Amino acid sequence: MTFHIGAKPGEIAETVLLPGDPYRAKWAAENFLEGTELVNEVRGMLGFTGHWKGNRVTIQGSGMGMPSLSIYVNELIRDYGAQTLVRIGSCGAMQESVAVRDVIIAMSATTVSTPSSTIFKELNFAPTASYDLLSAAVAAASRRDVGVHVGGIYSSDTFYDERPDLNEQMTRHGILGVEMEAGELYTLAARYGRRALAVLTVSDHLITGEALPADQRERSFGDMIEIALEAAFP
Ligand code: HPA
Repeated sequence: MTFHIGAKPGEIAETVLLPGDPYRAKWAAENFLEGTELVNEVRGMLGFTGHWKGNRVTIQGSGMGMPSLSIYVNELIRDYGAQTLVRIGSCGAMQESVAVRDVIIAMSATTVSTPSSTIFKELNFAPTASYDLLSAAVAAASRRDVGVHVGGIYSSDTFYDERPDLNEQMTRHGILGVEMEAGELYTLAARYGRRALAVLTVSDHLITGEALPADQRERSFGDMIEIALEAAFP
């Protein structure tokens, strides 16, 4: 048990999928894992451990934003020994070439700040995905009928943004999409020598204003979970 995770020692798998939403963790565990057990419900941030094709996997909600994800990922790594951490979540598209429902595999995550920023002082650390996970995810995505983009994303601190100029600079510099968690996940994985990746479904489009209808979200989310699992267990 840690401050925020009630699982007993050994109840968390070495491979952890991290959706922001705890109910998506539940849905993913019910639909993709076998022999699933609830291992955490502290603060309603549900976590489940089960098996996918014989491989042990935990799916743990991370909450929204880097401060929340940082708490769960610190405890998963330092207290439970998680080795491979894959964020599965949604993002907003920042390029016209990216469509709603497409999948973005995040090579790097630009941030204004992360909970780790204070340790870097004048340095701009570049949070980067683990290449073996990234390349396996690209291979898995290319086997599916889904648009896929591989490149940089922006991990923002705000959903309701009072600084649209930051988004404009990101678009101008080729950033594919915006979400709120991957930058800190990649930074923590680098610090502790673990593997990390973010696989994201485009739920909305910052340029066109389009948004994924609720009835299509589940199917897109399913593609992303399978890509994440195939990347973790190629
Ligand atoms: N902004 C930030 N985070 C997001 C968005 C967005 O537009 N869409 C999904 N996650």
